[in-house]
Parts: sequence; structure tokens; C-alpha cells
Amino acid sequence: MKFRGSNAALLGVSCLLQGKVANAYGIRGSTGRERLSLNDGWHFWRSETNPDGLIYDYRPETNETDLQVLKPWILPSANSFISNLADVYQRPPGNPGGDVSYVQGSFDDSAWETVNLPHDWAIKGPFYTEEDPIIGGGMGRLPVHGIGWYRKKLSMTSADAGRNIYLEVDGAMSYAMVWLNGNLVGGWPYGYNSFRLDLTPYLHPGDDNQLAIRLDNPPDSARWYPGGGIYRNVWLTKVDNLQVAQWGTFVSSREVSAESAIVDLTVQIENLGDTGRQIELTTGVHLIDATTGQPGAEVVTFPQMTATVESGQKQAVNQSVTIENPMLWGPWPAQSPALYVATTNLHADGMVVDTYETRFGIRSLIFDPDQGLLVNGEHISVQGVNQHHDLGALGAAFNVRAAQRQLEILQELGCNAIRMSHNPPAPELLELTDQMGFLVMDEIFDSWELNKTDSDFHLIFPDWHEPDLRAFIRRDRNHPSIIAWSYGNEVGEQNTNETGAAISQRLHDILHEEDPTRPSTVSINSALPSYLFPRVPDLISLNYQGAGIRNTNPYSNQTGIRTMPMYPSYHETFPDKMIWTSESASTLSTRGTYIFPVTDDISAPVNDTSGGNSTLEQVSAYELYTANFGSSPDKVFASQDSNPYVAGEFVWTGWDYIGEPTPYYSARSSYSGIIDLAGFKKDRFYLYQSRWRPDFPMAHILPHWNWPDRVGQVTPVHVFSAADEAELFLNGRSQGRKTKEALTYRFRFDDVVYEAGEVHVVTYKTGQQWVTDTVRTTGAPAQLQLIADRSTIAADGLDLSFVTLEVIDDKGEFVRDATNAITFSIEGPGEIVATDNGDPADMVSFPSLERNAYSGLALAIVRGVRGGTGTVTITATAEGLAGAQLKLELQ
Ligand SMILES: *[C@@H]1O[C@H](CO)[C@@H](O)[C@H](O)[C@H]1NC(C)=O
Ligand SMILES: *[C@@H]1O[C@H](CO)[C@@H](O)[C@H](O)[C@H]1NC(C)=O
Ligand SMILES: *[C@@H]1O[C@H](CO)[C@@H](O)[C@H](O)[C@H]1NC(C)=O
Ligand SMILES: *[C@@H]1O[C@H](CO)[C@@H](O)[C@H](O)[C@H]1NC(C)=O
Ligand SMILES: *[C@@H]1O[C@H](CO)[C@@H](O)[C@H](O)[C@H]1NC(C)=O
Ligand SMILES: *[C@@H]1O[C@H](CO)[C@@H](O)[C@H](O)[C@H]1NC(C)=O
Ligand SMILES: *[C@@H]1O[C@H](CO)[C@@H](O)[C@H](O)[C@H]1NC(C)=O
Repeated sequence: MKFRGSNAALLGVSCLLQGKVANAYGIRGSTGRERLSLNDGWHFWRSETNPDGLIYDYRPETNETDLQVLKPWILPSANSFISNLADVYQRPPGNPGGDVSYVQGSFDDSAWETVNLPHDWAIKGPFYTEEDPIIGGGMGRLPVHGIGWYRKKLSMTSADAGRNIYLEVDGAMSYAMVWLNGNLVGGWPYGYNSFRLDLTPYLHPGDDNQLAIRLDNPPDSARWYPGGGIYRNVWLTKVDNLQVAQWGTFVSSREVSAESAIVDLTVQIENLGDTGRQIELTTGVHLIDATTGQPGAEVVTFPQMTATVESGQKQAVNQSVTIENPMLWGPWPAQSPALYVATTNLHADGMVVDTYETRFGIRSLIFDPDQGLLVNGEHISVQGVNQHHDLGALGAAFNVRAAQRQLEILQELGCNAIRMSHNPPAPELLELTDQMGFLVMDEIFDSWELNKTDSDFHLIFPDWHEPDLRAFIRRDRNHPSIIAWSYGNEVGEQNTNETGAAISQRLHDILHEEDPTRPSTVSINSALPSYLFPRVPDLISLNYQGAGIRNTNPYSNQTGIRTMPMYPSYHETFPDKMIWTSESASTLSTRGTYIFPVTDDISAPVNDTSGGNSTLEQVSAYELYTANFGSSPDKVFASQDSNPYVAGEFVWTGWDYIGEPTPYYSARSSYSGIIDLAGFKKDRFYLYQSRWRPDFPMAHILPHWNWPDRVGQVTPVHVFSAADEAELFLNGRSQGRKTKEALTYRFRFDDVVYEAGEVHVVTYKTGQQWVTDTVRTTGAPAQLQLIADRSTIAADGLDLSFVTLEVIDDKGEFVRDATNAITFSIEGPGEIVATDNGDPADMVSFPSLERNAYSGLALAIVRGVRGGTGTVTITATAEGLAGAQLKLELQ
């Protein structure tokens, strides 16, 4: 597949440079690049009403015309990401906000909360439980809104003389505006993008430099839980004023084979000094050791280059090198994710002025309209999921271990791909997907000019679509895990014909200026093949339409668009474009809850007489019930198997997430996950595992078998397994041996009549007995049991142990319907950061140490105190039950 566009925008572009001012020392020194964490010791305060009279821009929804609009001073922060020099912004005179007390060094913030970043001000709650609260179910019923101020002192030493000092924010939700020593430095409105500001002109020697960051979260900013605050890492980068520009390297590979690969490197060099300088560039490539994550021996060096970079200019240098017998990056488990690092040294005046590392991978991608995706020449079925950015009970505050746990459980599922729905992720998440071998669809926008909520991205799309899109791609383009860029999700413009297609074309073109090597896509849920909209992107990404929307009988009573399965007509209309499904299923369920009767259909919309209970806010985990536009996994699998040119799917969703609690908006979190919000597996996990890991010996029976009220009643038993045949036994009596029919994906024993005892399944694959599963009627809850995912954790104040509580009976059997009220406590150098149970309708705040078990389970998330040593003891108690204790070691 060929892509339009070039990366001309990267090359030789001179930009209006902010902060082209010698710093306060006026001396030039050179000690290379330093990147320091700025996460600790901030003072934080939030107000639900505007406390300072400032606003990024006037908002038509609130008409607060008396506020001071700062947009003209913020827009110049976008200048490095605007290609047309005529369009870059000049900063107006003046220093708005300079007189607000919160930006002054003299302001006493000792009464403010002390926080370490990443920080999400909303996650501790409490949840809004009233009807029609300011933040409703869609955004998770948590207090995300308001103005937040963060303050911190910076110190500058003599070693900083002559260097440029940058503030780098990986993500701040939202409308960030930054002051240093009372001077407005700049800002970045979009809460999901990373940004950098040059602090140099405003710094002075000593340790009383006052940094102040203001965030503003409008109440209707999103369709899901956005979090609030500086929820990702923040860095201070110090570098010579002759430097590798921000996100200034781009590594790509071509002519890739097991024998050799050509690696292309572009380095953008920026000279912020007063005089032109001669530079010499050397870059060495090392393989990363997969075990240690550290660079191994040097593999190859790029030829040395020289160039002259004029004062105030950027200059791009291109180089290529051939690597013999390259270690390729490929998706787990079919391939392995080998990584390299290119270390670029910038020499000037006889010294190294900057050292810049770029991690990358070597792989080839083919997006074939008939065969699907080929990675390094091998067909890979895309077995993907959508993931939102929150980390459950930890909220939006990014944590590497929590994200890694999500990915580990997804690997156990057999998942090999993630769609970052619907916004740029934390950079560390992409480091994890690189290392663990996930394919990634990296996505930036949920709305363009047309709104989905009052205060979503449409408010700033006209000014920010270009800088946001360019910044997104420049930050992420060296990650080998990213295979495609999505520049929109279900935008209203898909139905506006010429207007929408023109915006799409502009975004697509910008994307290919920044990265000509990867395809563009945009997710379509209602446009038809005959519209102009799908003509623009390189790949066709369908949401729900592939399997058909409301096209079967059980959905006939639903309102909304109705489409027949669209794979064939899209394939016919776009024979040159690969098709995949960027959102499939939207199957809904609450873990371990079963509602009767069970539909005979393979897929049905949930309602109070079919799979749902709106009072308890539960959806039956027979995994047949869906959002009213959705499909069960079974229906999706059949549509894929009937249309084998489809490259695969991204299920909506891998994990549950906060907000969007369809179908019950009085709840707090989603029902769509294969895995619940606490990280516990729903029954659906085993249905996907049976398809995605067909050789993994597994059979899974549902429901549980504790139904004292159902004696003598029909209680269907379903078995998820990759076996071809299954025989079910109830208390030793066969309930029949069934063969899996073509285009069916589960064994249904729909006539089983309940009696207490044992349900047992024996499965067969190609005629041979394969694997069995048993579910028993248990005794009453008698004791608790605690199980840690890791019993030793690092004492770095970040690492976590996820401790699962199980309610068991007197024989030690897991009681799958237990709901006992649990109290957690902890002793030693650790804390329980949050608890959960995966119930979307549990409105107890996440930090609470009191938590009801839900379907037998609860979770405590434990963090060690930084620098702590020794043992942490976690205790769980419940009235009338034997308690449990667990010890964790800090190291
Ligand atoms: C804002 O002003 C417009 C026009 O004057 C008016 O129609 C609208 O109701 C106002 N909105 C609010 C929230 O006050
Ligand atoms: C650098 O490489 C890009 C992409 O391969 C190419 O389009 C461009 O012309 C090259 N620029 C220079 C200065 O060689
Ligand atoms: C989007 O904007 C239109 C026009 O201003 C308005 O009528 C509609 O209510 C808005 N929709 C949402 C979901 O905010
Ligand atoms: C969309 O635009 C195309 C090209 O301008 C035009 O031929 C077509 O009729 C339009 N379709 C609709 C539904 O308006
Ligand atoms: C509930 O869904 C079923 C189909 O599964 C449908 O027959 C029934 O009419 C629906 N009930 C309501 C109240 O919408
Ligand atoms: C679906 O059917 C039920 C009765 O079964 C009816 O009350 C309801 O209005 C129908 N809903 C729609 C959207 O047609
Ligand atoms: C929901 O469950 C409760 C408790 O079991 C029950 O009383 C109620 O009738 C159920 N509601 C529906 C709509 O089934």
C-alpha cells in the first residue's frame, strides 16, 4: 500500500522561536541533556467555581463574558506544530494572570494539599449518587470539574547556566496554563496530549523560582471519565541551546527481511543560540536486552554527518544504514518484540552538546485488502481490544504497574492489539506495548467541529487540530507497536458528505506529512460505502457495522440506525483498502451475575425482561446481551468467519472503564469489559480465550451452581471452550454430548433442570478427550482468603501489589455468589490506595477500606512507602467469617 504525503514539514523549517533569549546567566555551558522527574512535592488546590477570573476562551454554553480570555497568549505554544509560517502566532504584549495571587512566589500555599504526580483530583470521590448531578454517569459521577492550581518551587544551579530549561508535561486535564515567577509562559488545552514549554526566559538563579499550573475541567467535556489534574508524569529537561529539537528524531525501516533491513533516521537539530554553529552528528545503534531493558553491544553506526545550523533555525539531517540479520519487532505470541536504541550525539566546538536516545523496532507491515495484516511477511489476525485511559480505582493517574497488569491479563486472554480509545495514551503505556509486543492503533480525536458534548474538543478544534495532530505523531512515531494512526472516532462529520470529507482529508494529509510510513484511519459507525467520507482514510475501520447493527429479530424493537452486515459492501466498494473492526460487540455484563430466563437468540439487546435488571443495575453474564446497537461475541465471530478478508477486531472493550455505564446511567462504570474494573475475569474472558488461543486447554462452565430458589427449574448451562465436542454431566448424569456447529462458538445446554450438586463437562478435540471443568454447589461463606499478584514489590512509592480477596466456604471452595461486607486494614510500610469489586453500581468511594464482595471477590491495591523496608501485613475481616492475612515484602 502506498501512502500520500511527505515529511517536508519536518525539514529545514525555520520557526518563530519563543524564548530565543539568553537566560539570566548569559553564559554558555555544556553538560549534555538531563531529564529530571518533577513529580514530587506539589501544592494543590481545586475550586468548583472560577476563583481567579481567568479562562482559556469564552464558552458559549456559560456566557461568562466577564472573564479574562488568555487564548491569544496560549496559542503561541503551538507554533512548533504549525507548518505554514504565515499561520504561526505572535504573542501579544502583556502578561495576563500575572497579578493573580496563585502565580506569585509570595503567595502562601501551605494550607494547600501536598501531592505527588501523577495525580487525579477526582478519583477519591465521593461519587455523586443523586439524580441529575453536575457530573453524571457518562463521566463517572466523580468530581472531575472545576479549576485546579498546582504550585511548586524550582531551583536552578550554576550548572544550568547557558542551557535551555523545559517543562515537559505528559498530560494535564485540561486547558493547562503555566506561569513561572509571575510570568505567563504558555499552555496546552487538550488534556490528552503531551506538551513542552521553554521556561528559560523566566528563570532566575536560586531556589525560589515559582512554577504555577492552572487547569480547568468543564463539566461536559467528555462522554467518559476524563480524570482531573496533572495525571501523568512531569519532567524538567535541561539541554544546550544547540540541541536535538523536541521529539526531533524519526526512525523507520524498509526493505526488511531476516537477512537485512535499511534503517532511516531523521534528526531535527535546533539552534536557539545567537550565532550559527557547525555541528557533527554521530549515531550508534544498540540492541536492547529484553531481560534488562538496557542497551547491549553496538550493532551498527550511522555515518558521521556535519551541518551548519543558523541561529534561530531548525535543520533536519537524514541518514540511512543497513543492519544485517536484524532482530525484528513483531507481535506476541507469534513473533517477538525486539527493540533497538539509536543514541545520537551532537558535537559542537569539540564537545558533546546533546545526547538523545530513540528506541525503535524493525518490522514490515502490509495492510492487504484480501489477506488482512501481514507483519514481517506473516499473517497476523488482529485480536484486539479497546482500552480507555483510566486504571480503574486508581483513576486517570498513570501508574506503570497498573497498566502492565492490564496488559498481562490481556495477554492471558490471547489479545495481541490495543486501540487507544479515543485519545493519546501515556508515553509509558507505549513503552509497555513495544516491550510486550502489542499492535497499537493510536488514536487522537473523538470529535472534530461537531460536538458530542457541550464542552468537548469541538470547542478548540479550529485552532488546535493541526498542532495536536502533529504533536501526537511526533511524540509517538518511533514506537514499533504503533501500526496505524486513527484521527477520529465516530465523528458527526462522517455524515456531512463534502464538508466532513474535506476535514478528513486535511487531517489525513497532516498525518502523512508527519509520518509517511503508517496508514491513516478513522472509525466509522454510520457512514455508508457510498458516502465521500470512507474514501479518505487508508484503512477502513468499522464500528459495529461489520457484523450488522440492529439487523436481527431481537433488535427490531430498538430505535436508531439499522444496518445489514457491511463487510461485503465495504470490501466491494473499496477493493484496495484493508478492513478491520475498530469496535466490535459492546456486549454487556456484570461479572458472575445470571438472570433468567436466558434468551434463545445468539445476541439480544438488554432490557428488564431480557438479561437486565435496572433496579440492581446488573446485566446477565450469559454473555448474550448487548448495548442496543451491539452484538454478542458469537455474532461477531460468525461475521468474521463469513468474511475472511477482514483483518480482525478491536472488541469494545478489554477492561471495564469509568463512565459510560450503558445501559444504567445511575451506575459509575462500564458494563462492556471482557475484564471488570477491578481486573477480574468475566465469563466472556473464556469465550474470547477459546477463539484467540484455540490450542490452550481450557473449558469454562457458567453459571455458578448455587441456586436454592431454582430447584426443578430450567437453568441453562453454557460451556466456553475451543473443543469440537462437549458432554455435560449433572451429578453424574449425562445431559447430552454436543458438537459445535459451523459458525457457533459455545456449547449450549439450555434444558438443564437445576438440582444442587456438581456440573461437570468433558470436552473433545478431533475425537480425543481434551479438557474438563467442574462447578459445584458450595456451602455458605465461611472464610476469607487473600491472594497477591506479586508478593514482593519495590519500595519506590509507585510499585503496586493487587491483592484479591476470595470468599470461600468451609471446604475452601470459592463461593461465586458471596456479597459479604469486607473490612481491609494494613500494617507496616505500605498503604491500601484503593479497593474495588468490579461492580459498576458500587458507589462506595474507591479509597474506602470497607468494600462488599461482589460475586465472591474484592480487590485491595497496595503500595509500599517509598524507601520503606520489611513486611507489610494486609488483613481482611467480615462479620461471621474467619478473616485472612497476607504478608508482602518491600525491597
Ligand atoms: C448564552 O447566551 C445566548 C445568547 O444570548 C442564550 O441564548 C443562551 O441561553 C445563554 N446560555 C446560558 C447558559 O446562559
Ligand atoms: C530525508 O528523508 C525524507 C524521507 O525519506 C525525504 O523525503 C527527504 O527528501 C530527505 N531529506 C534530505 C534533506 O535528504
Ligand atoms: C451540540 O451542539 C448543538 C448545536 O449547538 C446542540 O443543539 C446540541 O445540543 C449539542 N449536543 C450536545 C450533545 O451537546
Ligand atoms: C455527496 O457529495 C457528492 C460529491 O459532491 C455528490 O455526488 C453526492 O450526491 C453527495 N451525496 C449526498 C448524500 O449528499
Ligand atoms: C426486550 O427485548 C426483547 C428481545 O430480546 C424484546 O422481545 C422485548 O420486546 C423487549 N422488551 C422491551 C420492554 O423493550
Ligand atoms: C419495545 O417494546 C415494548 C413492549 O414490548 C414497548 O413498550 C416499547 O415502547 C418498545 N420500544 C421501542 C423503542 O419501540
Ligand atoms: C431485579 O432484582 C430484584 C432482586 O432480585 C427483583 O426484586 C426485581 O424484580 C428485579 N427486577 C427486574 C426488572 O427483573
